[in-house]
Amino acid sequence: MSVILAIESSCDETSVAICNNGKITANVIANQTIHENYGGVIPELASRVHQQNIVPTIQQALINAKVNKKDVNAVAFTQGPGLLGALLVGVSFAKSFALALNLPLIAVNHMQAHILAHFIDEPKPAFPFLCLTVSGGHTQIVLVKSYFDMEIVGETLDDAAGEAFDKTAKLLNLPYPGGPLIDKHAQSGNPVAFKFPVPQIQDLNYSFSGFKTAILYFIRDKQKENPLFIEQNLADICASVQHSIVSILMNKLKRAAKQYNCKEIAIAGGVSANSGLRNTLIEARDSMGWNVYIPAFEYCTDNAAMIAIAGYHKFLAGDFVGQDISPMARMNF
Ligand code: KG4
Ligand code: ZN
Repeated sequence: MSVILAIESSCDETSVAICNNGKITANVIANQTIHENYGGVIPELASRVHQQNIVPTIQQALINAKVNKKDVNAVAFTQGPGLLGALLVGVSFAKSFALALNLPLIAVNHMQAHILAHFIDEPKPAFPFLCLTVSGGHTQIVLVKSYFDMEIVGETLDDAAGEAFDKTAKLLNLPYPGGPLIDKHAQSGNPVAFKFPVPQIQDLNYSFSGFKTAILYFIRDKQKENPLFIEQNLADICASVQHSIVSILMNKLKRAAKQYNCKEIAIAGGVSANSGLRNTLIEARDSMGWNVYIPAFEYCTDNAAMIAIAGYHKFLAGDFVGQDISPMARMNF
């Protein structure tokens, strides 16, 4: 029997989940809307809001799962990567909770947890599988050999795909986080209305910084010709940018699948909520003969359910940490 309480606080979502014998019975997410006013996450503000939200979020998760805190068997938490001040709130709370109730502690890598979200519900991928993990801070192709034996076989050399979405959105005067809004406007636009340069990067790695600069110059030049360019072409710009980002992501994913002779293909992370990426992956399932794994929307962006399922598998493996554990802003697998 195992009841795992899991805490996620790496960026701007305070989330608490309960995993009862491998099943998620609560997944409460307190979003921080304050950052919308600033066009991006302000780390200092994120830490303060985590501090305000952590206790009510824990209480709500226990209520939703119909669990008394005395029934919890272990506490899992995001150790990193993420914003250090934000992580500190979750890690400190987890340690205090574990100390007070004499419970074992489980440290979880946030990027591994995005991937392990695929083990919450059916269908579950078979090992080994390739996972394209795309979030606001990371873009990685990961060869997943078992629950915790993962190898990054390609990654971004500069910006993440989520940043490319968010920074484009900022140029288009859309509020933060802009990724979902680009997705929304793209639905009614022409994906080949405008063309953007495809980065020429070796191996299975990515680069989005040149792409971002190309979009900046494109919008600036078009606005010089026509000050209403954005307003008049918003849907086409969004559809074209989304189409380009998805093509860049998919090209390397296809190359990785070939190189590793792997047909079990998953996507994970906030950008895996993108409808263009999800649809393109489904097309690839049919054209490439892949088995594809696309997370439910609630498990794409940051959530504690993924920390809880990762924690559950660490619990089964007896992989615990001591009270001397500390958060890590940067963290390898
Ligand atoms: O995984 P996540 O919630 O947080 C990090 O660990 O970074 O990912 C957040 C990122 C943001 O860049 C956000 O704009 C992007 O995921 N995102 C999307 C969509 N939903 C979230 N990007 C494109 N289309 C979406 N539908
Ligand atoms: Zn994330």
